[in-house]
Order: sequence, then structure tokens, then C-alpha cells
Amino acid sequence: MDKIIVKGGACLHGSVEISGMKNAALPIIYACVLVEDKCIIENVPDVRDVALSFNILRSMGATVTPIGKNTVEIDCTELKGGTSKREMVQKIRASYYLLGSEFGRFGEANVAYPGGCDFGGRPIDQHIKGFEALGGTVNADCDHVQISSEFGPRGTNIFFDFVTVGATINVMLAAVLAEGTTIIENAAREPHIVDLANFLNTCGARVSGAGTDVIKIKGVNSLHGCTYAIIPDMIEAGTYMVAAAATGGCVKLTNVIPKHLESVSSKLEEAGAVVDEYDDTVIVTGKEKIRKANVKTHPYPGFPTDMQPQMAVLLCLANGVSYVSEGVYEKRFRYVEELTKMGAVIKVAGRTAVIEGGKPLHGASVRAVDLRAGVAMVIAALCAEGTTEISDIHLIERGYDDVVGKLKTLGADIEKVTVPDMIG
Ligand code: UD1
Repeated sequence: MDKIIVKGGACLHGSVEISGMKNAALPIIYACVLVEDKCIIENVPDVRDVALSFNILRSMGATVTPIGKNTVEIDCTELKGGTSKREMVQKIRASYYLLGSEFGRFGEANVAYPGGCDFGGRPIDQHIKGFEALGGTVNADCDHVQISSEFGPRGTNIFFDFVTVGATINVMLAAVLAEGTTIIENAAREPHIVDLANFLNTCGARVSGAGTDVIKIKGVNSLHGCTYAIIPDMIEAGTYMVAAAATGGCVKLTNVIPKHLESVSSKLEEAGAVVDEYDDTVIVTGKEKIRKANVKTHPYPGFPTDMQPQMAVLLCLANGVSYVSEGVYEKRFRYVEELTKMGAVIKVAGRTAVIEGGKPLHGASVRAVDLRAGVAMVIAALCAEGTTEISDIHLIERGYDDVVGKLKTLGADIEKVTVPDMIG
């Protein structure tokens, strides 16, 4: 029952180091299942989804050993396929990468249906289409997914019906050890897809085209261990950029790849902030007057859906009406109800939120309804008059490395408190 308590009003100032990217670390961790050798992974973020993924692999027979801050050695040589525990797998979305890696290594997979944030229906039909194209027979219901095959995955051509990050990753994992060549068309182009390809290639895989919408995977017989550093987290970076702009502060973000932040940087500039880019640093300076702007989320390189709630908070502070449209998920506005408790005026019509900006935000008791929505509440709290209490913060900790410590360093009045459970 931990909570975050924020006293609003501080402008953020100073420097913050961005951690490794959660959504790159997770597929790379599950990709280690394909490697019967030791892999040393660096720049691993200290977040709950990563810790849980390590425990899932450990429970299946892998050895996962921390060897210093943010570095871990993973050895999946002894891992047994089909042994993941339902109660662990169902806590996160990324556990479905076990399907691709178990199928790739063992020619079969047996994994409980994954969990993750509730953004409406999150089907896995494109993953299944990919596994079937690779020669798998898939039995799936809302509880369990099983893949079997006579000879293991076989190279093939797959054209996804729409762009999906998860299915692109799962097919890459299933195809690296397949016999023959696999071509994925209409593939996702996110930086974490490129990071996964770079990791796999460092282990001896032959993946080309990652970062474009056609990825080619020539199957190899085996992968070897390697040392690999995860890319910086563009969503964590974007979150601090919005926080700087929203509080009218000036924040330097280090350990970033400015190219990955372009859609966020340009939207922030449209809203009146100044973004200065350097090699691996950006500096965001907020202005007193925030301008209205319209946002539509798209797959990369479009504006990321994982930055939508944070940007909506910024636009609550702008004068005028802004429109925020969600182009990736069916339902990603559950946080609006929480924001309205703080004085925001937002109407949701289908996949669009109409934000009537310029209304002052005030402190309230609110809930993190999911990971990014939760951090958006923190940004709103920083800008609100008075004190805000945010509950269900384990959802924020799924993807943010030391958010309270980092914001404190930037001058926020923020604390994490443990509230005793009243039940029992
Ligand atoms: C990943 C990220 C998540 C991010 C999302 C989009 C992880 C662990 N999660 O989620 O933070 O918000 O990318 O950038 O990396 N879909 C189907 N059928 C499928 C697959 C997807 O209908 O087989 C739909 C989804 O419901 C969603 C859309 O396609 O509406 C995009 O999903 P996808 O890109 O696959 O997102 P995830 O991999 O789940």
C-alpha cells in the first residue's frame, strides 16, 4: 500500500540520468532463453517488470546474477521450456516473449496468457499468425497458449495486418534459430526492435532491416554469449521532458538518444518549451505560457502512445482547447477520471480527449490506473496547488527506475510513504 505524496509548486531544475529502456530490456532478457551460454547485460533498469522477468527465468532453471549496478549475467543453459509459473507470467505483458523464445529454442512452447496494463482488448492474433506461418500449431484461449511443431520453426514470409511491436519481437525470437530465412513485412520500427536485433546479432544471429518495416532473419544453428548494453529509455526521458516543461523548469537529461525523442521534442516545442539537443543530452526549458497543441499517437516514429497521458497533463495547463487522439489502443483514457479530481476539464469522445486547458490544478487523492497514467498523475501533482496523494504506485514502479529519488534531485517536494494495510 505504498503511496507517493507530492506538494506541488516546485519548478524542476538540474540534471537527471536516464536509465536503460524497459521495453528493450524485456525482450532482450527473454531472448537470452535462445542462448545456451552466458550473456552479460548492461544498463538494465531497476524496475519491477525486469525484476519479475528475472524471477520468471530463475523459476525455469536459468541463473541470473547481478554483477554490479545495472549489470546482470544471465545463463539459460539449464532452462526448461514450458515450466513458467502462471501467477508470475500473468502479472506482465512482456512474459509473452517466452512464446517466441521457447518455440525458437525447443520447437514448442507452453505459457499462460500474459497480463499487463488494461487498455481495452489486447489480442495476440498477429503473434499466433506469425507462429503458425513458421510451422507451429497453436492452441490458445484466454488462459493459456501452447505451440507445438514437428520440426521446429521454419523460415517463411509474414505480412502483419497492422504494426505491432509485440508480434514483431515474438516472430524475431522464434525465427533466429529457424531453418531457412524469415521475412517480416509491415514490421514495427521502434528503437527497441533495433536494440533486440543488435543484441541477437552480437550473439551470432543474422537479422537485417530492423528499424525499417521489412526485417530479414536468416536462421543460424546456435547463438553464443555476449556482453551488451541496453539503449536509454525514450519514454522515461520523454516523461522528464514533459515534467520540466509543465513545471516551467529547466532540466538536462543525460544518457539519451535525441533522435528517439524527436516526436516528443517537436510537440513540446509546439507547446512553447525550448528543447536543445546535444550528442547524448537534451536540455528542456519550460516557459510560463504553455500553448495548446493537438496530439495523435502512432507507432514509431510517430508520437508514442506511452507518452499520451503525460502530454495530456501538459495540455491541461495550456490556454485553449487541445485534442489528444489515441491511435494505438482502444481504451487509454481511464486516467482522465483521476485528472478531473484535480480540476482538469477533459471530455472523452471515443478515442479522442478534448482538453479545455488553463484551469488550475489542485491537490487530491488519486490513483495510478496504469504505468504511464500513474506517472502522469505525478506530473499533474507537481503542477498542482496543494498536496496530492497517489496510490497504486507499484504500477509506476513497473517501469520507472527511482522516480521519487530522481524528481527529488530535481527539486520536487515528493515522498514515497508506506501506508499500513487496514484490512486484517
Ligand atoms: C508494446 C509496449 C507498450 C507500448 C506498445 C505500443 C512492451 C512490454 N509494451 O506493447 O508499452 O504501449 O508496444 O508502442 O514493450 N494488437 C492486436 N493483435 C496482436 C498484437 C497487437 O490487435 O496480435 C493490437 C494491440 O491491442 C494494440 C496495437 O495492436 O491495440 C499495438 O500493440 P503492440 O504494438 O503489439 O503493443 P504491445 O507489444 O502489447
